[in-house]
Amino acid sequence: MNHLDFTACPVVPVIRIDSAEQAVGLARTLVDAGLPTIEITLRTPVACSAIERIVAEVPAAVVGAGTVLNAEDLRRVVAAGARFAIAPGCTDALYRAAAQTSLALLPGVATASEIMRGLEYGHQTFKFFPAEPAGGSALLKAWAGPFANVRFIPTGGITIANAPKYLALPNVIAVGGSWMAPQDAVVAGDWPRIAQLARSCQTLNNRA
Ligand code: 3PG
Repeated sequence: MNHLDFTACPVVPVIRIDSAEQAVGLARTLVDAGLPTIEITLRTPVACSAIERIVAEVPAAVVGAGTVLNAEDLRRVVAAGARFAIAPGCTDALYRAAAQTSLALLPGVATASEIMRGLEYGHQTFKFFPAEPAGGSALLKAWAGPFANVRFIPTGGITIANAPKYLALPNVIAVGGSWMAPQDAVVAGDWPRIAQLARSCQTLNNRA
């Protein structure tokens, strides 16, 4: 995941989308507002179609898939053209499947043992999920001791208000969240509201 460029803005919008037709307008809105790295979660039947549409019609977007739970999900998102895959946790089967593809997988972790298993599979960057319920920035600070070379993208309960305390940590490269694309605004196609929320993310910086 280290190939993703978060120098412009270290925020990954986490999107649940019910209509593939809306995907292009939403992706354009996020890209134009300075958030080109977008996670489309596999939580709706249209998620892969949405990824395909964004890949085809919004070339400036770096679109990946979230909620990738197993090898079959990984196969589907590779076929859809996703640039990366994000999992809320990880299994041996998913680690092995990811090793067979060139797609970057961001596995999810919430415990030290899960980090250690990911390290055994050669991963050094993880989604920390669900960040706030699992221990928040205090847990990430504690992990910096034993896992000095490991980097995290916390998601789950992150907001514009608590994002700075995560981004101030040396082991955090970006944060993910849905706060800039609230479900009611996505459903309503309220791109101006999403643009405004996304633009306010420009005030966020990681310590690099
Ligand atoms: C997720 O994968 O659900 C993300 O972590 C989004 O969480 P949020 O809706 O709390 O931002």
